[in-house]
Amino acid sequence: MFRFRSSASAKQSLLRRSFSSGSVPERKVAILGAAGGIGQPLALLMKLNPLVSSLSLYDIANTPGVAADVGHINTRSQVVGYMGDDNLAKALEGADLVIIPAGVPRKPGMTRDDLFNINAGIVKNLCSAIAKYCPHALVNMISNPVNSTVPIAAEIFKKAGMYDEKKLFGVTTLDVVRAKTFYAGKANVPVAEVNVPVIGGHAGVTILPLFSQATPQANLSGDVLTALTKRTQDGGTEVVEAKAGKGSATLSMAYAGALFADACLKGLNGVPDVVECSYVQSTITELPFFASKVRLGKNGVEEVLDLGPLSDFEKEGLEALKPELKSSIEKGVKFANQ
Ligand code: NAD
Ligand code: LMR
Repeated sequence: MFRFRSSASAKQSLLRRSFSSGSVPERKVAILGAAGGIGQPLALLMKLNPLVSSLSLYDIANTPGVAADVGHINTRSQVVGYMGDDNLAKALEGADLVIIPAGVPRKPGMTRDDLFNINAGIVKNLCSAIAKYCPHALVNMISNPVNSTVPIAAEIFKKAGMYDEKKLFGVTTLDVVRAKTFYAGKANVPVAEVNVPVIGGHAGVTILPLFSQATPQANLSGDVLTALTKRTQDGGTEVVEAKAGKGSATLSMAYAGALFADACLKGLNGVPDVVECSYVQSTITELPFFASKVRLGKNGVEEVLDLGPLSDFEKEGLEALKPELKSSIEKGVKFANQ
């Protein structure tokens, strides 16, 4: 275990006292895979989040350096680095939120499903430890293929007898971030004002942005909407190809992961009307897991919102994504129960 506390200036002590006085609850956030391409910038962004009081950085290697580095930043949270299996329990104990970006990323030519063989095992082990050491924590799953790793986590939690579907989230925020960016460019509207729900899952055609519900509204042609949809679905591949063998999205993912984690923490803290898209257990379609807008609350998912009106193009996209999403879910369930 590696502990790095920033020096306590008078101002910081005051800050800590005011945080511990009850206005902002203590929250422990654990990042599993914290020394990786996503893990490091995500650790930085979570260190900057005033809702976090304790930041636990776990990886199989290199966490001492990451924790020492991030731990020097003069913000609220205490940072502790944990390395290797023997320290996983301590990394997780008392966690309110566990974020999982552990696992291998894609190289050009691979699909996310090509990562299944390695990442499924990693996720399975980490989720078994979560079940044991922090069964009440919210879990934000980033590791790919998300369409399968979330069902794997659910099955592992069910076996451990602690599954709470309100607490398990596949992080699809990067799809929303991309859809907003690409839409703003074409619609010529300020990107900070844009909202676009993205539903379905997190791989290729299973990613379905609902540009018909985008705000501010813009009168874009069918061809432009088709191209925007395709670019959002291929956003991950665009980065994988640009990185040419050096991995997949890390910085934009860390940003997206930090946004989603912040929303979860706000929900836990009782902030009203926190709504984000996420891949969760769902009954809004016939598929047992599905990404849609979700209202977050003190227990995690407070409400899975329905899809709202879809354009004909989006209705077709919804039907087209179901077979692939169904088979990715079944693959995860089967693996977890082997
Ligand atoms: P990376 O290889 O840079 O980092 C992964 C980290 O996981 C490494 O530090 C590695 O040591 C660690 N790790 C491996 N096994 C572990 C274990 N058992 N316990 C703890 N840590 C372990 O990869 P990356 O670029 O950070 O990507 C990580 C994952 O996130 C990949 O599966 C990638 O496909 C996925 N991803 C998802 C999204 C999304 O939108 N959900 C976006 C980008 C990447
Ligand atoms: C992404 O969407 O960037 C991630 O899922 C990583 C990938 O493999 O594309």
